[in-house]
Amino acid sequence: MCGIVGYTGKRKALGILLSGLQSLEYRGYDSAGISLKTKSGIETVKTKGKVIDLISLIAESRLDTSAKIGIGHTRWATHGKPSTENAHPHFTEAVSVVHNGIIENYRSIEKFLNNKGISRKTDTDTETIALLIDHYLKASLDFKNAFFESVKKLKGSFAIVALSKDFDYLMLAKHESPLVIGISEGETFIASDVSAMIEYTNNFIFLEDGDVALVDRDRITIFNEKLEETKRNTVQINWSKEKAQKGGYKHFMLKEIAEEDEAVRNTIQSRIDENGRILLDDEIKLDKEFLKNIDRITVVACGTSFYAGLTAKPILEKFTGVKVDVEIGSEFRYYDYLYSKNNLFLAISQSGETADTKEPLKMAKKRGIKTLSIVNVKESAIARLSDSCIYTLAGPEISVASTKAFTSQLAVLFMLAFYISQLKGKREAFEAAKKLLKIPSLIKQTFDLTEKTIKELADKYYKYQNFLYLGRGICFPLALEGALKLKEISYIHAEGYPAGEMKHGPIALIDENTPSVVVAHPKEPLYSKSISNCEEIKSRHGKIILVSSRKSTIVDDIIEVPEVDYDFAPFIYIIPLQLFAYHVAYLRGNDIDQPRNLAKSVTVE
Ligand code: G6P
Repeated sequence: MCGIVGYTGKRKALGILLSGLQSLEYRGYDSAGISLKTKSGIETVKTKGKVIDLISLIAESRLDTSAKIGIGHTRWATHGKPSTENAHPHFTEAVSVVHNGIIENYRSIEKFLNNKGISRKTDTDTETIALLIDHYLKASLDFKNAFFESVKKLKGSFAIVALSKDFDYLMLAKHESPLVIGISEGETFIASDVSAMIEYTNNFIFLEDGDVALVDRDRITIFNEKLEETKRNTVQINWSKEKAQKGGYKHFMLKEIAEEDEAVRNTIQSRIDENGRILLDDEIKLDKEFLKNIDRITVVACGTSFYAGLTAKPILEKFTGVKVDVEIGSEFRYYDYLYSKNNLFLAISQSGETADTKEPLKMAKKRGIKTLSIVNVKESAIARLSDSCIYTLAGPEISVASTKAFTSQLAVLFMLAFYISQLKGKREAFEAAKKLLKIPSLIKQTFDLTEKTIKELADKYYKYQNFLYLGRGICFPLALEGALKLKEISYIHAEGYPAGEMKHGPIALIDENTPSVVVAHPKEPLYSKSISNCEEIKSRHGKIILVSSRKSTIVDDIIEVPEVDYDFAPFIYIIPLQLFAYHVAYLRGNDIDQPRNLAKSVTVE
């Protein structure tokens, strides 16, 4: 999705803006641009395409690169096709604007402007913001007040940064789209995502919905919804610069798969003691009596986070003893869900900004339901909106295809199951938690053990156009997630299915051109039943790749994983599925970290 950067300070702005935009590339975009306040006014360069195209264009341009204040943007088209004209910033002679989100009432603003003889030149909703501010500047308001007046008129979701020709500060507004201010001595950084500016500072102010800010190199003034001056805390973000870089790997995705042992270790190590006690008392700010008495858990999430919920459902049910529903956010928000008396609403989101997860969370809160979230990005909207949040400590996830977030979310979900069980006085949850502590080293072992075979298999299979992913029990949601990974980055059609359901439809697809990836833990009778399904595939000339710790002679290929208890299998069995998708996509020459049409965090509906 779109990305915003801004800078004002002692250094030349251009390099900081461009490196910030490059850090935001992972979010997915189709055009990029910057505006600088130079001696001759506002200078803007923008283009359809990638930041690298923007850099070439700037090199050929006569842009005054000495400017110390500027803004930049990567656009993911919503209103108007991807084009240079529709790329941000949108500007007039006096003001330039970058914007994330959607201005829902842009048509009525346009009417207001048209009545004054002002019209848009682009297809974007954003241009109306620039024209509106310009209009108020012409009506003799100063930049701050022109911006205030404009923001008052806007409806929808937005993070906006505006640059003026005549004033040395930037104006910011945030409503339902993230915007952070990075602070350092004599300079101020602005970004829609901390990873864009983590290279320069660890100190950030996270604006709240309704906030407007006036930002100078050494002065930050924040105004609340009523435009009264207010204070917001500075938060230290300890993500290192290295974590947001590739560190010798060809792609972030491979680096992030290789980091999964560390991500899970960081997520669990300070939260489980040597006796297996889950130490979440301080983090879960929900009443213990309520937690002991919950009668249902409703998990809401999207994409990979949804599959994490689905994967953990049996563990949550087994240890808490209550029914768990796992729901897709985009459906749930339009569904009149029947909550039970002591329902816990659980949102899962890596980014903490996914609109389709955030909306159901808000709706649940309105209904008086207690809400908990599992989020990776500190201070994100979902983390702040929920009654309580448990962070996954996976570090920044840059690749669009989510990997280490998935296993870290599983780690939190497992800990949550054990925690509630321990509150209820169940002994077995202590033993299970101790087993979880051993998982990170097993993840590492799996990566080391399987990568070579997977590279060979990718070479054998990367030209196929269709795949089936099959699994039973706890391996079924892994089949779904494995298929999702393959589609996302290799653009191969892949379908995840419960192996037992194959005979009710997908078996019709099987022939020598449709290989199946069968995920089968040796637990009986599930393993034997999965192998019977393999027989059915074989007799229809289908090729089979088996992911298991137990061999079978009827399959074509096997990715052998280390032995692991059935309950903990997801942490181990998902690694080869992620790696297989990666190596197939690599051989197909795809843009792995920024797959076509996808965005890292989808902040619009
Ligand atoms: C997008 C991403 C997926 C992600 C999903 C949910 O579709 O491309 O990788 O799983 O959003 O994101 P969240 O940040 O809420 O986990």
